[in-house]
Amino acid sequence: MSKVSYVSGLFLGALATVVIMNQAATASGAPGSESVKDKIEHATEPFDGMKVTTAYPLPVKMVESKEHYQGGSFRVLARKGQITRFRCSVCHNDKPVKVQNGVLFTHSDIQLNHGLGRNMLTCNECHSIEDRDFLVDKEGRKIDFDHSYQLCGKCHFRQKRDWLGGAHGKRETYWAGERVVRNCTSCHNPHSPAFPTKMPATYSLPLDE
Ligand code: HEC
Ligand code: HEC
Ligand code: HEC
Ligand code: HEC
Repeated sequence: MSKVSYVSGLFLGALATVVIMNQAATASGAPGSESVKDKIEHATEPFDGMKVTTAYPLPVKMVESKEHYQGGSFRVLARKGQITRFRCSVCHNDKPVKVQNGVLFTHSDIQLNHGLGRNMLTCNECHSIEDRDFLVDKEGRKIDFDHSYQLCGKCHFRQKRDWLGGAHGKRETYWAGERVVRNCTSCHNPHSPAFPTKMPATYSLPLDE
Protein backbone atom coordinates (compact mmCIF):
# COMPACT_ATOMS: atom_id res chain seq x y z
CA MET A 1 0.00 0.00 0.00
CA SER A 2 1.46 3.39 -0.95
CA LYS A 3 1.85 6.06 1.69
CA VAL A 4 -0.70 8.37 0.02
CA SER A 5 -3.50 5.81 -0.05
CA TYR A 6 -2.70 4.83 3.57
CA VAL A 7 -3.09 8.45 4.68
CA SER A 8 -6.30 9.00 2.71
CA GLY A 9 -7.61 5.72 4.13
CA LEU A 10 -7.01 7.01 7.61
CA PHE A 11 -8.79 10.24 6.73
CA LEU A 12 -11.84 8.42 5.31
CA GLY A 13 -11.97 6.23 8.41
CA ALA A 14 -12.03 9.28 10.63
CA LEU A 15 -14.73 10.88 8.47
CA ALA A 16 -16.89 7.74 8.65
CA THR A 17 -16.62 7.74 12.44
CA VAL A 18 -17.77 11.34 12.58
CA VAL A 19 -20.72 10.57 10.26
CA ILE A 20 -21.75 7.54 12.31
CA MET A 21 -21.55 9.53 15.55
CA ASN A 22 -23.65 12.24 13.98
CA GLN A 23 -26.29 9.70 12.88
CA ALA A 24 -26.41 8.25 16.37
CA ALA A 25 -26.87 11.74 17.77
CA THR A 26 -29.79 12.56 15.45
CA ALA A 27 -31.44 9.15 15.98
CA SER A 28 -31.72 9.75 19.70
CA GLY A 29 -32.32 13.48 19.20
CA ALA A 30 -35.27 15.67 18.39
CA PRO A 31 -38.67 14.09 17.61
CA GLY A 32 -39.24 13.57 13.89
CA SER A 33 -35.58 12.92 13.15
CA GLU A 34 -35.96 9.23 12.36
CA SER A 35 -32.94 7.14 11.45
CA VAL A 36 -32.97 5.15 8.20
CA LYS A 37 -33.55 1.97 10.20
CA ASP A 38 -36.56 3.54 11.97
CA LYS A 39 -37.99 4.59 8.62
CA ILE A 40 -37.70 1.07 7.18
CA GLU A 41 -39.30 -0.45 10.27
CA HIS A 42 -42.05 2.16 10.15
CA ALA A 43 -42.72 1.51 6.45
CA THR A 44 -43.24 -2.22 7.05
CA GLU A 45 -45.73 -1.69 9.87
CA PRO A 46 -49.20 -3.00 8.90
CA PHE A 47 -51.61 -0.29 7.75
CA ASP A 48 -55.19 -1.03 8.79
CA GLY A 49 -54.37 -4.73 8.79
CA MET A 50 -52.63 -4.59 5.40
CA LYS A 51 -48.88 -4.92 5.28
CA VAL A 52 -47.00 -2.34 3.28
CA THR A 53 -44.14 -4.43 2.03
CA THR A 54 -42.68 -2.10 -0.52
CA ALA A 55 -40.55 0.97 0.05
CA TYR A 56 -42.46 2.97 -2.58
CA PRO A 57 -43.61 6.14 -0.82
CA LEU A 58 -47.36 6.15 -0.26
CA PRO A 59 -49.20 9.48 0.00
CA VAL A 60 -49.12 10.42 3.66
CA LYS A 61 -52.62 11.81 4.01
CA MET A 62 -54.96 8.99 3.05
CA VAL A 63 -57.79 7.01 4.62
CA GLU A 64 -59.12 3.52 4.03
CA SER A 65 -62.27 3.71 1.93
CA LYS A 66 -65.53 2.89 3.66
CA GLU A 67 -66.61 1.01 0.55
CA HIS A 68 -65.10 -1.97 -1.21
CA TYR A 69 -64.59 -2.87 -4.83
CA GLN A 70 -64.90 -6.54 -5.78
CA GLY A 71 -64.46 -7.45 -2.13
CA GLY A 72 -61.21 -5.52 -1.78
CA SER A 73 -60.63 -2.33 0.11
CA PHE A 74 -58.62 0.59 -1.20
CA ARG A 75 -57.49 3.98 0.01
CA VAL A 76 -58.55 7.53 -0.74
CA LEU A 77 -56.67 10.80 -0.43
CA ALA A 78 -57.72 12.52 2.79
CA ARG A 79 -59.29 15.99 2.54
CA LYS A 80 -59.52 17.57 5.98
CA GLY A 81 -55.95 18.88 5.91
CA GLN A 82 -56.74 20.69 2.64
CA ILE A 83 -59.81 22.51 3.95
CA THR A 84 -58.61 25.89 5.18
CA ARG A 85 -61.74 26.54 7.30
CA PHE A 86 -61.65 23.16 9.05
CA ARG A 87 -62.54 22.76 11.96
CA CYS A 88 -65.82 24.47 11.33
CA SER A 89 -66.83 24.06 14.99
CA VAL A 90 -64.25 26.68 15.94
CA CYS A 91 -66.99 29.18 14.98
CA HIS A 92 -70.03 26.92 14.54
CA ASN A 93 -70.54 26.15 18.19
CA ASP A 94 -73.70 26.66 20.25
CA LYS A 95 -72.85 30.29 21.00
CA PRO A 96 -75.04 32.83 19.18
CA VAL A 97 -73.39 34.79 16.37
CA LYS A 98 -73.02 38.43 17.37
CA VAL A 99 -71.96 39.88 14.03
CA GLN A 100 -74.27 41.04 11.28
CA ASN A 101 -73.78 39.59 7.79
CA GLY A 102 -71.73 36.75 9.29
CA VAL A 103 -71.94 34.69 6.10
CA LEU A 104 -70.67 37.59 4.05
CA PHE A 105 -67.67 38.06 6.31
CA THR A 106 -66.75 34.42 6.50
CA HIS A 107 -67.97 32.57 3.41
CA SER A 108 -68.33 35.15 0.66
CA ASP A 109 -65.62 33.25 -1.24
CA ILE A 110 -68.10 30.41 -1.79
CA GLN A 111 -70.09 30.91 -4.99
CA LEU A 112 -72.58 28.10 -5.51
CA ASN A 113 -72.91 26.90 -9.08
CA HIS A 114 -74.10 23.35 -8.62
CA GLY A 115 -77.43 22.21 -10.04
CA LEU A 116 -79.55 23.87 -12.64
CA GLY A 117 -81.53 27.12 -12.19
CA ARG A 118 -84.18 26.78 -9.52
CA ASN A 119 -82.73 23.39 -8.59
CA MET A 120 -79.49 24.94 -7.39
CA LEU A 121 -78.27 22.98 -4.39
CA THR A 122 -78.31 24.65 -0.97
CA CYS A 123 -75.64 24.50 1.72
CA ASN A 124 -77.62 22.17 3.96
CA GLU A 125 -78.17 19.53 1.30
CA CYS A 126 -74.48 18.75 1.78
CA HIS A 127 -73.42 20.22 5.14
CA SER A 128 -74.83 18.93 8.42
CA ILE A 129 -76.85 21.60 10.24
CA GLU A 130 -76.31 20.02 13.68
CA ASP A 131 -72.57 19.59 13.27
CA ARG A 132 -70.82 21.71 10.67
CA ASP A 133 -67.72 19.52 10.98
CA PHE A 134 -69.59 16.91 8.91
CA LEU A 135 -71.45 16.43 5.63
CA VAL A 136 -74.80 14.59 5.44
CA ASP A 137 -76.17 11.66 3.45
CA LYS A 138 -79.77 11.15 2.23
CA GLU A 139 -80.92 9.86 5.61
CA GLY A 140 -79.27 12.76 7.46
CA ARG A 141 -76.42 10.61 8.78
CA LYS A 142 -73.05 12.33 9.15
CA ILE A 143 -70.32 11.88 6.53
CA ASP A 144 -66.71 12.64 7.35
CA PHE A 145 -65.04 15.22 5.06
CA ASP A 146 -62.38 12.63 4.23
CA HIS A 147 -65.13 10.42 2.78
CA SER A 148 -66.90 13.06 0.71
CA TYR A 149 -67.25 10.56 -2.19
CA GLN A 150 -70.16 9.19 -0.15
CA LEU A 151 -71.83 12.59 -0.33
CA CYS A 152 -71.35 12.98 -4.10
CA GLY A 153 -72.46 9.38 -4.59
CA LYS A 154 -75.89 10.04 -3.09
CA CYS A 155 -76.76 11.90 -6.32
CA HIS A 156 -74.03 10.98 -8.83
CA PHE A 157 -74.27 7.24 -8.22
CA ARG A 158 -73.15 6.36 -11.75
CA GLN A 159 -69.95 8.41 -11.52
CA LYS A 160 -69.34 6.95 -8.10
CA ARG A 161 -69.77 3.41 -9.39
CA ASP A 162 -67.27 4.18 -12.19
CA TRP A 163 -64.93 5.76 -9.64
CA LEU A 164 -65.08 2.67 -7.40
CA GLY A 165 -63.99 0.56 -10.35
CA GLY A 166 -61.29 3.01 -11.37
CA ALA A 167 -62.91 4.27 -14.60
CA HIS A 168 -63.57 7.81 -13.30
CA GLY A 169 -61.00 9.82 -11.38
CA LYS A 170 -57.34 9.08 -10.92
CA ARG A 171 -55.15 6.58 -9.17
CA GLU A 172 -52.30 7.95 -7.03
CA THR A 173 -50.29 4.76 -6.67
CA TYR A 174 -50.69 0.97 -7.20
CA TRP A 175 -53.35 -0.88 -9.14
CA ALA A 176 -55.04 -3.27 -6.75
CA GLY A 177 -55.05 -4.15 -3.08
CA GLU A 178 -53.26 -1.12 -1.74
CA ARG A 179 -54.65 1.09 -4.53
CA VAL A 180 -54.75 4.78 -3.53
CA VAL A 181 -57.16 6.99 -5.47
CA ARG A 182 -58.10 10.66 -5.51
CA ASN A 183 -61.23 11.80 -3.73
CA CYS A 184 -64.01 13.47 -5.76
CA THR A 185 -63.08 16.80 -4.18
CA SER A 186 -59.38 16.34 -4.99
CA CYS A 187 -60.50 17.29 -8.52
CA HIS A 188 -63.98 18.86 -8.34
CA ASN A 189 -64.79 21.99 -6.36
CA PRO A 190 -68.00 20.84 -4.63
CA HIS A 191 -69.48 24.35 -4.84
CA SER A 192 -68.86 24.71 -8.56
CA PRO A 193 -67.96 21.24 -9.79
CA ALA A 194 -68.04 21.53 -13.59
CA PHE A 195 -64.75 22.20 -15.32
CA PRO A 196 -64.66 25.14 -17.73
CA THR A 197 -64.81 24.04 -21.36
CA LYS A 198 -61.42 23.83 -22.94
CA MET A 199 -61.00 24.00 -26.68
CA PRO A 200 -58.15 22.20 -28.37
CA ALA A 201 -55.34 24.43 -29.58
CA THR A 202 -55.79 25.06 -33.29
CA TYR A 203 -53.11 24.73 -35.84
CA SER A 204 -52.95 25.97 -39.42
CA LEU A 205 -50.91 24.15 -41.97
CA PRO A 206 -48.08 26.29 -43.27
CA LEU A 207 -48.67 27.67 -46.79
CA ASP A 208 -47.06 25.71 -49.59
CA GLU A 209 -43.73 27.12 -50.54
C1 HEC B 1 -64.34 32.11 11.22
C2 HEC B 1 -65.59 31.52 11.65
C3 HEC B 1 -66.21 30.45 10.78
C4 HEC B 1 -65.63 29.27 10.36
C5 HEC B 1 -64.24 28.73 10.65
C6 HEC B 1 -66.65 28.58 9.60
N1 HEC B 1 -67.80 29.32 9.57
FE1 HEC B 1 -69.50 28.87 8.57
N2 HEC B 1 -70.38 30.61 9.18
C7 HEC B 1 -69.78 31.52 10.01
C8 HEC B 1 -70.74 32.58 10.31
C9 HEC B 1 -70.49 33.78 11.21
C10 HEC B 1 -71.92 32.26 9.60
C11 HEC B 1 -73.24 33.05 9.57
C12 HEC B 1 -74.04 32.80 10.81
C13 HEC B 1 -74.61 31.46 10.85
O1 HEC B 1 -75.32 31.06 9.92
O2 HEC B 1 -74.36 30.75 11.85
C14 HEC B 1 -71.67 31.00 8.90
C15 HEC B 1 -72.58 30.35 8.10
C16 HEC B 1 -72.37 29.10 7.52
C17 HEC B 1 -73.34 28.38 6.73
C18 HEC B 1 -74.74 28.84 6.40
C19 HEC B 1 -74.66 29.78 5.20
C20 HEC B 1 -76.00 30.33 4.80
O3 HEC B 1 -76.05 30.92 3.69
O4 HEC B 1 -76.97 30.19 5.53
C21 HEC B 1 -72.77 27.18 6.36
C22 HEC B 1 -73.39 26.08 5.53
C23 HEC B 1 -71.44 27.16 6.91
N3 HEC B 1 -71.23 28.34 7.61
C24 HEC B 1 -70.58 26.12 6.77
C25 HEC B 1 -69.30 26.09 7.30
C26 HEC B 1 -68.41 24.96 7.16
C27 HEC B 1 -68.75 23.66 6.47
C28 HEC B 1 -67.25 25.30 7.79
C29 HEC B 1 -66.00 24.47 7.91
C30 HEC B 1 -65.45 23.90 6.73
C31 HEC B 1 -67.42 26.65 8.33
N4 HEC B 1 -68.66 27.08 8.02
C32 HEC B 1 -66.44 27.33 9.04
C33 HEC B 1 -68.50 31.47 10.51
C34 HEC B 1 -67.57 30.48 10.28
C1 HEC C 1 -72.67 19.66 -3.23
C2 HEC C 1 -72.47 19.71 -1.82
C3 HEC C 1 -72.14 21.04 -1.16
C4 HEC C 1 -72.88 22.22 -1.16
C5 HEC C 1 -74.21 22.48 -1.86
C6 HEC C 1 -72.15 23.16 -0.35
N1 HEC C 1 -70.98 22.58 0.10
FE1 HEC C 1 -69.56 23.49 1.18
N2 HEC C 1 -68.35 21.86 0.97
C7 HEC C 1 -68.74 20.65 0.43
C8 HEC C 1 -67.64 19.72 0.50
C9 HEC C 1 -67.64 18.27 0.02
C10 HEC C 1 -66.56 20.41 1.08
C11 HEC C 1 -65.16 19.89 1.35
C12 HEC C 1 -64.32 20.18 0.11
C13 HEC C 1 -62.95 19.55 0.14
O1 HEC C 1 -62.84 18.35 0.32
O2 HEC C 1 -62.00 20.31 -0.07
C14 HEC C 1 -67.05 21.76 1.37
C15 HEC C 1 -66.29 22.77 1.98
C16 HEC C 1 -66.85 23.93 2.48
C17 HEC C 1 -66.14 24.93 3.25
C18 HEC C 1 -64.67 24.87 3.59
C19 HEC C 1 -63.91 25.51 2.44
C20 HEC C 1 -62.45 25.75 2.80
O3 HEC C 1 -61.57 25.38 2.00
O4 HEC C 1 -62.18 26.29 3.85
C21 HEC C 1 -67.03 25.90 3.61
C22 HEC C 1 -66.74 27.13 4.43
C23 HEC C 1 -68.29 25.54 3.02
N3 HEC C 1 -68.14 24.35 2.34
C24 HEC C 1 -69.44 26.27 3.14
C25 HEC C 1 -70.55 26.12 2.33
C26 HEC C 1 -71.65 27.07 2.23
C27 HEC C 1 -71.76 28.36 3.03
C28 HEC C 1 -72.52 26.57 1.32
C29 HEC C 1 -73.80 27.21 0.81
C30 HEC C 1 -73.67 28.53 0.26
C31 HEC C 1 -71.98 25.29 0.85
N4 HEC C 1 -70.79 25.07 1.48
C32 HEC C 1 -72.58 24.44 -0.06
C33 HEC C 1 -69.96 20.36 -0.12
C34 HEC C 1 -70.95 21.29 -0.37
C1 HEC D 1 -78.10 16.55 -3.68
C2 HEC D 1 -77.63 16.02 -4.93
C3 HEC D 1 -76.19 16.30 -5.34
C4 HEC D 1 -75.05 16.12 -4.61
C5 HEC D 1 -74.92 15.62 -3.17
C6 HEC D 1 -73.94 16.42 -5.48
N1 HEC D 1 -74.41 16.81 -6.71
FE1 HEC D 1 -73.28 17.31 -8.34
N2 HEC D 1 -74.96 17.85 -9.34
C7 HEC D 1 -76.26 17.70 -8.88
C8 HEC D 1 -77.17 18.24 -9.85
C9 HEC D 1 -78.69 18.26 -9.72
C10 HEC D 1 -76.39 18.72 -10.93
C11 HEC D 1 -76.87 19.37 -12.21
C12 HEC D 1 -77.28 18.31 -13.17
C13 HEC D 1 -76.71 18.49 -14.50
O1 HEC D 1 -76.11 19.53 -14.80
O2 HEC D 1 -76.83 17.55 -15.31
C14 HEC D 1 -75.00 18.44 -10.58
C15 HEC D 1 -73.92 18.71 -11.39
C16 HEC D 1 -72.61 18.27 -11.14
C17 HEC D 1 -71.50 18.34 -12.07
C18 HEC D 1 -71.55 18.94 -13.46
C19 HEC D 1 -72.17 17.99 -14.41
C20 HEC D 1 -72.13 18.50 -15.83
O3 HEC D 1 -72.40 17.69 -16.73
O4 HEC D 1 -71.82 19.68 -16.02
C21 HEC D 1 -70.42 17.80 -11.47
C22 HEC D 1 -69.02 17.65 -12.03
C23 HEC D 1 -70.83 17.41 -10.13
N3 HEC D 1 -72.17 17.71 -9.96
C24 HEC D 1 -70.00 16.84 -9.19
C25 HEC D 1 -70.35 16.62 -7.87
C26 HEC D 1 -69.42 16.30 -6.80
C27 HEC D 1 -67.94 16.12 -6.99
C28 HEC D 1 -70.15 16.16 -5.65
C29 HEC D 1 -69.66 15.86 -4.26
C30 HEC D 1 -68.78 16.87 -3.67
C31 HEC D 1 -71.54 16.39 -5.99
N4 HEC D 1 -71.61 16.71 -7.33
C32 HEC D 1 -72.61 16.31 -5.09
C33 HEC D 1 -76.64 17.10 -7.69
C34 HEC D 1 -75.77 16.75 -6.66
C1 HEC E 1 -58.87 12.91 -11.31
C2 HEC E 1 -59.89 13.89 -11.19
C3 HEC E 1 -61.33 13.46 -10.94
C4 HEC E 1 -61.83 12.75 -9.87
C5 HEC E 1 -61.07 12.13 -8.71
C6 HEC E 1 -63.26 12.70 -10.06
N1 HEC E 1 -63.61 13.35 -11.22
FE1 HEC E 1 -65.48 13.66 -11.91
N2 HEC E 1 -64.75 14.43 -13.62
C7 HEC E 1 -63.42 14.70 -13.88
C8 HEC E 1 -63.27 15.22 -15.22
C9 HEC E 1 -61.97 15.64 -15.88
C10 HEC E 1 -64.58 15.25 -15.77
C11 HEC E 1 -64.99 15.70 -17.17
C12 HEC E 1 -65.28 17.15 -17.11
C13 HEC E 1 -65.93 17.69 -18.34
O1 HEC E 1 -66.28 16.92 -19.24
O2 HEC E 1 -66.14 18.92 -18.36
C14 HEC E 1 -65.48 14.79 -14.74
C15 HEC E 1 -66.86 14.72 -14.88
C16 HEC E 1 -67.74 14.46 -13.81
C17 HEC E 1 -69.18 14.62 -13.87
C18 HEC E 1 -69.98 15.15 -15.06
C19 HEC E 1 -70.67 14.02 -15.80
C20 HEC E 1 -69.72 13.11 -16.48
O3 HEC E 1 -69.71 11.91 -16.15
O4 HEC E 1 -68.95 13.55 -17.34
C21 HEC E 1 -69.67 14.26 -12.65
C22 HEC E 1 -71.13 14.25 -12.20
C23 HEC E 1 -68.53 13.85 -11.83
N3 HEC E 1 -67.38 14.00 -12.57
C24 HEC E 1 -68.62 13.40 -10.53
C25 HEC E 1 -67.56 12.84 -9.83
C26 HEC E 1 -67.69 12.12 -8.60
C27 HEC E 1 -69.00 11.87 -7.89
C28 HEC E 1 -66.44 11.73 -8.23
C29 HEC E 1 -66.03 10.88 -7.02
C30 HEC E 1 -66.76 9.64 -6.82
C31 HEC E 1 -65.51 12.23 -9.22
N4 HEC E 1 -66.23 12.88 -10.17
C32 HEC E 1 -64.13 12.08 -9.18
C33 HEC E 1 -62.38 14.52 -12.98
C34 HEC E 1 -62.46 13.81 -11.78
